[in-house]
Amino acid sequence: EKTPLVDPFGRHISYLRVSVTDRCDFRCVYCMAEQMQFLPKSEVLSLEELDRVCSAFIERGVRKLRITGGEPLVRKDILHLFQRLGRHLASGALDELTLTTNGSQLKTYAVGLYEAGVRRINVSLDTLDDAMFAKITRRGRLAQVLEGLKAAHEAGLSVKINAVALRGINDQAFDEMIRFCGERGFDLTLIETMPLGEIDEDRTDRFLPLSLVKADLETRWTLEDIPHRTGGPARYVRVRETGGRLGFITPLTQNFCEGCNRVRLTCTGTLFMCLGQEDKADLRTVLRQSSNNADLHAAIDQAIKRKPKRHDFIIDGATRAPAVARHMSVTGG
Ligand code: GTP
Ligand code: 5AD
Ligand code: SF4
Repeated sequence: EKTPLVDPFGRHISYLRVSVTDRCDFRCVYCMAEQMQFLPKSEVLSLEELDRVCSAFIERGVRKLRITGGEPLVRKDILHLFQRLGRHLASGALDELTLTTNGSQLKTYAVGLYEAGVRRINVSLDTLDDAMFAKITRRGRLAQVLEGLKAAHEAGLSVKINAVALRGINDQAFDEMIRFCGERGFDLTLIETMPLGEIDEDRTDRFLPLSLVKADLETRWTLEDIPHRTGGPARYVRVRETGGRLGFITPLTQNFCEGCNRVRLTCTGTLFMCLGQEDKADLRTVLRQSSNNADLHAAIDQAIKRKPKRHDFIIDGATRAPAVARHMSVTGG
């Protein structure tokens, strides 16, 4: 029996988020610059290496695995990784195998994901308006994502929609999204934009505190607090009029780091102990140096000892530089 992962603040690490590629077919304005330099293949962990490191974390008590990117479904043969990881669901070692996706490839992958053991997916979608969608994603096609959502629903996957709240862009889009999600039985979470990586515009102008959004929504909808928890950071309410769940992810206005249960692995095998901090640990070197997992477990232990208490995100007029230099697509959110 291997010892569980507990950080210096007594928090148990039971949730691993793994980015399997830094690439994406979209260029969302809050996530990437228009021109991105992507990594050469040699830097990126193979599917075998990803499986090995995920399995090591599962041995140490990780019960929830989220595959992210970039866009995870643009990685070649990605379904093989899901199929391999699915064995941990079958053995009972893992409670949930899931992913966060932009939805563009779901039509192709929905059935395969379900067959691999995925039951719930998070799809990033910030608006239902064609023109606004094009403006936010710069390269995405809304119709393709909507087809993907339909395919996911038909395949039996539960869906959560993620919308990043952007002042002056999608702040009027949420009523329509609440209705859309309510009709389909999708959960919806709204997210405060976080300052990661240089993008082509000023986040200060775009930042929209969710406290304001919630107050505005409450003038038209009845929002009832509910205890629903997923192991993620969202706090949920029920929208009485639709019966749907609505979550708020508020890293800036209402910190949730106290309950943090997660660490993040990038596609190059770098472990980040916090989304909002620079500190990291290189697991790739250890993975590639020896096939003996003892060194890997020792490296993981060393890293968890350094998990910081919380992020240092702030968004204000005086601090224009991002809190963290890497882009969101490095750690997948
Ligand atoms: P579930 O609760 O399982 O549905 O997933 P999730 O909300 O944890 O994951 P998802 O990939 O859908 O991420 C939604 C948003 O939450 C993204 O913007 C993430 O960056 C953000 N998020 C997730 N975990 C953390 C965290 O530990 N810290 C911060 N600051 N943001 C997080
Ligand atoms: N701030 C908050 N959320 C972001 N995401 C991407 N970039 C940012 C940002 N700067 C979201 C995506 C996706 C999730 C993993 O992270 O929309 O839903
Ligand atoms: Fe791609 Fe997601 Fe980043 Fe948009 S937010 S550019 S879909 S990785």
